[in-house]
Amino acid sequence: MSKKIMILPGDGIGPEIVAQAKAVLEAVDKKSGLGLAFEEGEIGGAAIDSSGEPLTEETLEAAGQCDAVLLGAVGGPKWDQLDRDIRPERGLLKIRSRLGLYANLRPAILYPQLADASSLKAEIVSGLDILIVRELTGGIYFGEPRGIRVLANGEQQGFNTYVYSEYEIERIARTAFEAARKRRGRLCSVDKANVLEVTVLWREVVERLAPEYPDVELSHMYVDNAAMQLVRAPKQFDVMVTGNMFGDILSDAAAMLTGSIGMLPSASLNETGFGLYEPCHGSAPDIAGQGVANPLATILSAAMMLRYSLDMDGAADLIEQAVHKVLDEGLRTADIFTQGCRKVTTAEMGAAVVNAL
Ligand code: IPM
Ligand code: MG
Repeated sequence: MSKKIMILPGDGIGPEIVAQAKAVLEAVDKKSGLGLAFEEGEIGGAAIDSSGEPLTEETLEAAGQCDAVLLGAVGGPKWDQLDRDIRPERGLLKIRSRLGLYANLRPAILYPQLADASSLKAEIVSGLDILIVRELTGGIYFGEPRGIRVLANGEQQGFNTYVYSEYEIERIARTAFEAARKRRGRLCSVDKANVLEVTVLWREVVERLAPEYPDVELSHMYVDNAAMQLVRAPKQFDVMVTGNMFGDILSDAAAMLTGSIGMLPSASLNETGFGLYEPCHGSAPDIAGQGVANPLATILSAAMMLRYSLDMDGAADLIEQAVHKVLDEGLRTADIFTQGCRKVTTAEMGAAVVNAL
């Protein structure tokens, strides 16, 4: 039975990295006879240029009818002046929200070959393997009311609403407890319960679920401390679960521990296991079109897609092993380059992974 994948390259380096991930998927398909089929659509600035909006209803519907979605990145200076309701990022938030992709899994794994590329000392990060579980369709990103209003004195005021309902907290917490159970059995819930009521409730709900997962050791941490601990002693963490905005911030920090944000894949899943897969990094307009971007985060996202949405674990393993092999061989894009390695382009890195397969 064939599986259909919607490819949404997006903007900036998106098309370059997605092309490499697609080539890797095609190669693994050929090798293992997976029966993958591809459809392509537009999101972000690319979609604004052709249709006037960052994600059309047609593309959204087509994506929902595929078995999984592989996305590059959105945004860039070309669209920064647009009204905030039709900016590229809105396309990304729309697909996450409308497809109900509330569970964002962001694994930060240090590949031993890259220990020297991390900005932290090798002994602090070697062996690092953290999973950040970020709530993705609620919190301050989506809370209403929101906007910029003009006060009586003529001054403008910006405002957002940080809101979480119990069911939203409960379902993401369950995702995290389940994940911890399959890993090293430790879960740290990150909040700001010393200040924000919404996260007082967050902590309460997570705490309430704990007895159902006696095999998981639960702890809580304030977000400011969590940021500090991530750069001080990151190996203390196994699974971290947190809201949308804190997760956005902490996952960038965790990414850098691994040498480069160019290495971090992600999965965004809904209740049925349907998922959207994208690198954690952005569209990097400053290096777009130069062929220097690291395609590995997107290639590893494709591997996550095979594992989580398509039930093709063996093929996912093959891709991950191929990535290890090219790193072993010393191939590095600019972002992970260290002395003594071989610097390669985006396309060369992609081709090397295909070869290793
Ligand atoms: C991410 C990105 C997005 C986010 C932006 C591009 C809207 O930073 O996926 O982490 O904030 O969620
Ligand atoms: Mg981010």
